[in-house]
Amino acid sequence: MLAIYPGSFDPITLGHLDIIERGCKLFDQVIVAVLRNPNKTPLFTVPERIEQIRRSTPHLSNLEVDSFDGLTINYAKMRHATALLRGLRVLSDFEMELQMAHTNKTLSAQIETVFLATSNEYSFLSSSLVKEIARFGGAIDHLVPKHVAVDIYQCFAKIPPASAQTTDLVPTQEPPKTEPLAESLPEREA
Ligand code: PNS
Repeated sequence: MLAIYPGSFDPITLGHLDIIERGCKLFDQVIVAVLRNPNKTPLFTVPERIEQIRRSTPHLSNLEVDSFDGLTINYAKMRHATALLRGLRVLSDFEMELQMAHTNKTLSAQIETVFLATSNEYSFLSSSLVKEIARFGGAIDHLVPKHVAVDIYQCFAKIPPASAQTTDLVPTQEPPKTEPLAESLPEREA
């Protein structure tokens, strides 16, 4: 059975990774499908997000990473998927996810939505939260794969906070020149 795990993944978090790894145990094949959404201004381009996901998942042999635009259900039909995979973190996710699942069911009765409860330790985690923490100088290396943390720090032209300063995490190239956003950031605590 083939499942599509659709989403924005801007960027992938350890919560997404948890769902991907568990989905790969449940299904014969999983495709992580990154939505190309012209209405959003993401932090990372779609090719960057695909690369981040691929670098996070070399251990998963039954995983493919792809992108799509338009309706998720059309992409799922095109790939002959049996299921859509989604993670549920907290009760507030449920309403929107249920609405999406019901809507998708009206568009294709054959494709089921399968929800996995996100593991407890990631139930608070979202890509937006990670970006906000990084923007204001907080450590994010416990929330996203290490190479993704480096990418995010580079985006915000910031040196990783002291807690994240391992050789793995220090960007290998000079961060881009300070942008106006970074100039307005508050001083980081020592
Ligand atoms: O990671 P996200 O942003 O929570 O993912 C939401 C996503 C991409 C799964 C959802 O917005 C989606 O399926 N968008 C594609 C357009 C679509 O199919 N809309 C109808 C869904 S009922």
